[in-house]
Amino acid sequence: MAKNSKQRRKSKLTAKTADKHLLYQMSVQDPSFEIDFIDNAFKRLRKRPALTFREDFCGTALLSTEFARRNPKRKSTGLDLDRGVLAWGKKHNIEPAGEVGKRVTLLERNVLDGTKERFDIACALNFSYWIFKTREEIQRYFRSAHRGLNKDGMFIIDAYGGWEAQEPMEEKRKVKGFTYIWDQNVVDPINSNIVNYIHFDFPDGTSLKRAFKYDWRLWTIIELRELLAEAGFSESFVYWENEEEDDVFRRRTRASNYAGWLAYVVALP
Ligand SMILES: C[S@@+](CC[C@H](N)C(=O)[O-])C[C@H]1O[C@@H](n2cnc3c(N)ncnc32)[C@H](O)[C@@H]1O
Repeated sequence: MAKNSKQRRKSKLTAKTADKHLLYQMSVQDPSFEIDFIDNAFKRLRKRPALTFREDFCGTALLSTEFARRNPKRKSTGLDLDRGVLAWGKKHNIEPAGEVGKRVTLLERNVLDGTKERFDIACALNFSYWIFKTREEIQRYFRSAHRGLNKDGMFIIDAYGGWEAQEPMEEKRKVKGFTYIWDQNVVDPINSNIVNYIHFDFPDGTSLKRAFKYDWRLWTIIELRELLAEAGFSESFVYWENEEEDDVFRRRTRASNYAGWLAYVVALP
């Protein structure tokens, strides 16, 4: 009986009934894994648990909510420019979390304006900070993150690359009840500008085309680390995902390139 009603719900997912923020969260976010990784990196580097978290480009604040959920002493603050996505996050992630949600603050703000408050951790994930396309802009952002950290804090960003990142292509992945499509639409080798879209296809044949658009610069890890240093960070480390081991990121100083890699860069003030 339960299975039948689940199946009925599943089959109802169409372009009309689907909620694009929920589809996004289901397709590209894994808050439990990400907060585990961030917590462990912080504990290893700082020899204490982190208590405060600033999520830049927070969108629906899924990570902020997960960070706060882990410990009643924890507080998170999410920054995003888009009032609509913040309202969605409040309704669907923060308020349903009850007491945990009371320890999550949302700020409708440009990340470049930063925060007066300082945090143990600041992060910009899912490559959101690649909207900054010049050295000047990204440095301005890194300085804002640096100013927002406690002396023994930690800044964490992610990056992707490899030859498939340089290739206009579409990658499809089945998620529960729909198909997620990552569309690398434009890759410009002259200025490293890239334009990516996320589309969603549904079992009834309908689609949400271009549900999300990302107009970015494809930055390299070495550029990012040089810019972090110029912005005032004293050191940075790379956590590299081995080709053979999904979701296992190890600190590395050298790596062999492969088709589609992911990495985290952790920087200390
Ligand atoms: C790709 S989503 C990131 C969502 C989520 N943080 C994640 O990890 O998947 C990018 C978000 O950045 C926000 N954004 C873009 N430019 C911004 C800026 N300068 N300051 C604050 N938020 C910004 C957008 O409104 C959008 O919600």
